Amino acid sequence: MKHKIAPSLLSGDFLHLQRDIEMINNSEADWLHLDVMDGVFVPNISFGFPVLDAVKTVCKKPMDVHLMIVEPQKFVHEVAEAGAYMMNVHYEACLHLHRTVASIKEAGMKAGVTLNPHTPICLLEDIIQDVDMVLVMSVNPGFGGQYFIEHSLDKIRRLKEMILRKGLNTWIEVDGGINPETGKLALEAGADILVAGAFVFESPDPTRTIQELKEL
Ligand code: DX5
Ligand code: ZN
Repeated sequence: MKHKIAPSLLSGDFLHLQRDIEMINNSEADWLHLDVMDGVFVPNISFGFPVLDAVKTVCKKPMDVHLMIVEPQKFVHEVAEAGAYMMNVHYEACLHLHRTVASIKEAGMKAGVTLNPHTPICLLEDIIQDVDMVLVMSVNPGFGGQYFIEHSLDKIRRLKEMILRKGLNTWIEVDGGINPETGKLALEAGADILVAGAFVFESPDPTRTIQELKEL
């Protein structure tokens, strides 16, 4: 499969979200990545369900929702209603991850499990068969525009090995500090989807930048 690009709206212009979403609609982006933060799981607050509901009315790309919140299992219904294609929950935020993954799928969404930089791949050994995607955080979650943590490449490689060893086709998404250089390394390590926020939205021509990432 050709890799996918999921621009993160976190680095968009919040006064002109419709304009930015239409730019993504008309670009080579595959998904739109949406970062929900609660100020508890991560030291920042971004936007919540009313914003997702509004995004849904304009967005023509599948919505890849990344929940950086405690107790994400409480909001499966809201995320589904907001039109999410993929619901990503953090491993660290889920006491009953198996149940949460099942309820995400029952609600008609794909289920993604996200790992913080310190969370080892081996913890997925008994859940990976049930998840559609693993989101490897290559920065500490909470803010856009941070530097890619080099060790993430080793994690991606070991995750890919686990997926192949089990005969699965689970997607690997990488989020944080992606630019053409780190993106290329992540793809070589086994990533399938690249999230990019600051690199896309702070570039002079975001549409062209998305194309550049798609061509890696
Ligand atoms: C960080 C978010 C990311 C963020 C990535 O907590 O999960 O999705 O938008 O931003 P960049 O690409 O700027 O590192
Ligand atoms: Zn994210």
